[in-house]
Amino acid sequence: MNRVALEVENLSVEFPSPGARGLFQPPATFRALSDISLSVATGEVLGLIGESGSGKTTLGKAIVGLVQTSQGQIQVDGTALDIQKDRDRHELARRVQMVFQDPFSSLHPRKTVGHTLAEPFRIQKTAGRNDQTTKVNALLERVGLSPTHAARYPQHFSGGQRQRIAIARAIANQPSVLVADEPVSALDVSVQAQILNLLDDLKSQENMAMLFISHDLSVVRHLCQRIAVMYLGRIVEIGPAKELAANPAHPYTAALMSAVPRVKARNKARSKPIVLQGDVPSHAAIPSGCPFHTRCWLYEKKGCPARCRTEVPSLDKVDSARQSACFYSTEVESPDNGA
Ligand SMILES: Nc1ncnc2c1ncn2[C@@H]1O[C@H](COP(=O)(O)OP(=O)(O)OP(=O)(O)O)[C@@H](O)[C@H]1O
Ligand SMILES: [Mg+2]
Repeated sequence: MNRVALEVENLSVEFPSPGARGLFQPPATFRALSDISLSVATGEVLGLIGESGSGKTTLGKAIVGLVQTSQGQIQVDGTALDIQKDRDRHELARRVQMVFQDPFSSLHPRKTVGHTLAEPFRIQKTAGRNDQTTKVNALLERVGLSPTHAARYPQHFSGGQRQRIAIARAIANQPSVLVADEPVSALDVSVQAQILNLLDDLKSQENMAMLFISHDLSVVRHLCQRIAVMYLGRIVEIGPAKELAANPAHPYTAALMSAVPRVKARNKARSKPIVLQGDVPSHAAIPSGCPFHTRCWLYEKKGCPARCRTEVPSLDKVDSARQSACFYSTEVESPDNGA
């Protein structure tokens, strides 16, 4: 196992509740992230999956310091970095970078690509005026573009090329951690694989730890060594990608995986997709006990145990590499639940 590059410990994030603000009271808040702990090693890709609103982007932003945390710690290369402190902020920007979903809004339209790519070198003072051009050219080549592209503006590029530029900007100062938030979901299907291959190559060549956020489970399984599954701001299962897909230890993971054709084909017992009942509850009304119990097929199957309604399951070890937040994690294996 390689060195741990990113370590998140008991991280929570609170946001003001929409519309709830008393005149003489502090604004009401809701927890978008609750007690998140995870680590990612150098050269490793950790996939982050979960339905819309589960907190994936918020976690990514908290790690790069774009969202203020209310509790917990983030360590990069063994050093705790606090976004509130100026010096740490500078250090965080060098060591942790993020690539966003939309390559059309993430690049300045009136700056040449060369200018945009030289910026990280200027800010971090990692290149003098003379070698900025050399470094920018090398960066363009590293992401599969050409030095001739430096003089052009973002509007001259396709979505895939823009995402290459955004990736180049992110890796300019060789960060230890790269957060990629749905980096291909806004791109044409035909170029998605190229960008995924680029990220896959870079994570080893640049020796980065990567947090890869995606809705596309087949992509996550292909690219990631480990997967963390989020539900309502919590991690409900985390473990090696292959095992988690083939043999989930949380009923929510089982439901997500049952919708992936390749997993289904290999696993006859799971040939029927598990249909989750209802919508994700709102953050303002998180169910008591296990937050997932209101939609849980296993809860139903087990005759609605009171424990699931009253006790919050902690993220506990299932085996040496896997953790699950379900009281019945050993019974998830055959979700032939008649759903
Ligand atoms: N700046 C903010 N202020 C208030 N609430 C926010 C803010 N950012 C996110 N939220 C809320 O926090 C919750 C988590 O949002 P987040 O964007 O992290 O989810 P996500 O898992 O990335 O969803 P998606 O798959 O749609 O991208 C949502 O309820 C969202 O509305
Ligand atoms: Mg998101």
